[in-house]
Amino acid sequence: MKKIILLAFVVLNSNAFTQKFDGLALTPPMGWNSWNTFQVNISEDLVKGIADNMVASGMKDAGYTYIVLDDGWMTMQRDSVTGNLIPDPKKFPHGMKALVDYVHSKGLKFGLYNCAGTKTCAGYPGTRGYEYQDARFYASLNIDYLKFDWCYTDGQNAKESYTTMSKALKAAGKPIVFSLCEWGSNKAWEWAANVGELWRTTGDIYNCFEGQKDMGNWKANCVLHIIDLNEPLRGYAGPGHWNDPDMLEVGNGMNVNEDRVHFSMWCMMAAPLIAGNDIRKMTADTKAILTNKDAIAVDQDALGVQGWRYASKDSVETWFKPLSNGDWALCFLNRSAQPQKINFDWKNENVSDTLSNRQLNAAATTYKIMNVWTKENSSTTAKPFTTTVPSHDVVMLRLTKQ
Ligand code: GLA
Repeated sequence: MKKIILLAFVVLNSNAFTQKFDGLALTPPMGWNSWNTFQVNISEDLVKGIADNMVASGMKDAGYTYIVLDDGWMTMQRDSVTGNLIPDPKKFPHGMKALVDYVHSKGLKFGLYNCAGTKTCAGYPGTRGYEYQDARFYASLNIDYLKFDWCYTDGQNAKESYTTMSKALKAAGKPIVFSLCEWGSNKAWEWAANVGELWRTTGDIYNCFEGQKDMGNWKANCVLHIIDLNEPLRGYAGPGHWNDPDMLEVGNGMNVNEDRVHFSMWCMMAAPLIAGNDIRKMTADTKAILTNKDAIAVDQDALGVQGWRYASKDSVETWFKPLSNGDWALCFLNRSAQPQKINFDWKNENVSDTLSNRQLNAAATTYKIMNVWTKENSSTTAKPFTTTVPSHDVVMLRLTKQ
């Protein structure tokens, strides 16, 4: 009898041993990743400089937490005796654990990268067949975040591969945010809510505004293209499991207004905010964009509902995102090369979100309007909102019940 009860207990609770960690990333993760600017040219000095600047620049105060080393942190071979991964001693002369400790001493968190296949995308040792061993290695380093890529995976099933790594991390016991990076090629949003905290929805981003960038044998995605791919997936995102439209290119070469579009729209889409620029030498404009607390508050809102494209006319889109305290975020996005006039009469609009079951009823309720970028806050929804949105720019607003 005792045996039967024990068996029933184990069966009923078997999920408890296979699920991801509870309560990680209840709002979209914020941090910095080395790839967009440095590719594999990474080092201990770079990470320390980034950590120091994360604090000094005000990015930490604005909410950026994770410093993630992407591809290129390992030697080309595993240890021939133990099979362990080896952090490259030339790039990290004091070892990875000392660097993790340094980042933690700044009140920040640390992340690493690997791949579900036999090699990483840049050709370093992948994790296939070493999932539990690598997970124990990461736990021993006390890291907080793992980005897990999808190169060299011929014949592998994505759901199985990522689930195996998720279980391995759980078994190793150190809570680690698990960032799936299969580029949307296996529709991770359909199966990964219980596997990790975020999943890439698209191929790689590039610092360009519209269309795609030809990279030879593959195409990278510009900002508007990614927005269009990520928008229809809003129903899959929520606290603890986010659509990831890729890391930020703010400060990496687009115009200031295009960077503002990029950042605003990532906030409207409740996207992870992972800076990808060299924050040690960013311009005042770049810093102002990355640390705009009102934009970040929209991204980090506890309701965790991804915004949606409410209307689209003459290359101007109107986006809404419901917020936890009954407020709304709104973004007018001008995709065109010309400035566009807006005349938005609240009383004629029927803003209703079936996903969050929220309505914005300006005929019954008046909202105060705050401009997230200019901070102008004198108007309300009692009268039509008129403005001009410059080319490739946004006007982003927060509406608060009066
Ligand atoms: C893939 C990922 C990128 C980056 C590189 C590293 O392309 O999508 O984000 O991690 O690999 O090689």
